[in-house]
Amino acid sequence: MSVQKDLLGKTDSGQNVSVFTLTNRNGMQVQLIEYGAGIIRILVPDKAGMLRDVTVGFDDMDGLQHRSDYQGAIAGPYANRISGGSFVIDGNEYPLVKNEDGIKTLHSGGEYTHTVWQGKEIGENAVCFSYTRADGLNGYPGSIRAEITYTLTEDNALRLHYSCVSDRKTYINPTNHTYFNLNGFGSGDILSQELTIFASTFTPVDKLSIPTGELRPVEGSPFDFRSAKPIGRDIEHSCEQLKNTGGFDHNFCLDGWDGSLRTAAVAKSPESGITLTVSTTLPGIQFYAGNFLSGIPGKDGIPMNKRCGFCLETQYYPDTPHQSSFPSCLFAAGETAESETVFAFRAD
Ligand code: GLA
Repeated sequence: MSVQKDLLGKTDSGQNVSVFTLTNRNGMQVQLIEYGAGIIRILVPDKAGMLRDVTVGFDDMDGLQHRSDYQGAIAGPYANRISGGSFVIDGNEYPLVKNEDGIKTLHSGGEYTHTVWQGKEIGENAVCFSYTRADGLNGYPGSIRAEITYTLTEDNALRLHYSCVSDRKTYINPTNHTYFNLNGFGSGDILSQELTIFASTFTPVDKLSIPTGELRPVEGSPFDFRSAKPIGRDIEHSCEQLKNTGGFDHNFCLDGWDGSLRTAAVAKSPESGITLTVSTTLPGIQFYAGNFLSGIPGKDGIPMNKRCGFCLETQYYPDTPHQSSFPSCLFAAGETAESETVFAFRAD
């Protein structure tokens, strides 16, 4: 196991951005960067033992800063959407940045994604990224100290540990927004890759992609991923939910959530033989099928076309500040918001 630190480049404002390369005994390699505390490469062996980069995104500062759809990055402090671009805590209303259609907030306006975090090697197989935000930035309350630690294990798993503490009561809900393609970056779309999600219900959304508050059974609908099925099988189904979002882009409510680390989803490519198992301590997972990707050039200048990657974003349900029946992610001052998500790989 080893970790190497290099300079990736500089932001437009002249800040240095380091890249950390973790390599384990099997040759699996993960590259992590200080910009967005993100993942820019995961090289895993396929069934023939050949290494494939299973992440879709950028590895240059220009793409990361100017063309990003959150590829590989941490989104937060509140990932996903907040309706109306505001919320209330203890009777005080906090108007937030409205970066989606001028009427709602998505991924906290990109705050965590477009921040240079401070990265530090921990031993020979982990890197911790830290960042303390200013209270009130983008209207969002709380000076939150966030630490995200990535650990690569010898059994080809990448563990993400999140630990956040605010000086005021606030909502805390960060996620990692990696786009995966289990045949490798640049190999086409992900429609034949098979997905299982351990969720009997999901949160339907309105035309603005905001949850209606309902927890709807997946049974008998295109949202039933309880047994493995190709992502593309039902994605063009004419139901209202898929029309609202232009393809899967929904939060699934994980069965049996109790805060312990449980398997949330399994994705497999029959072609490469690579399987990704996602486990998390969190109650939800956003399955986003890359519907908005529109040919923007990524690594090696290869265009990222519609559905060339999928995201499995572990999270509290979207818009929880407006849904009292959803599990709460409102944390008291000084309380640690802790969670863990694991991306484990194998090939057969
Ligand atoms: C999340 C959202 C999607 C989309 C992507 C970024 O996954 O749910 O609707 O906005 O982020 O493009």
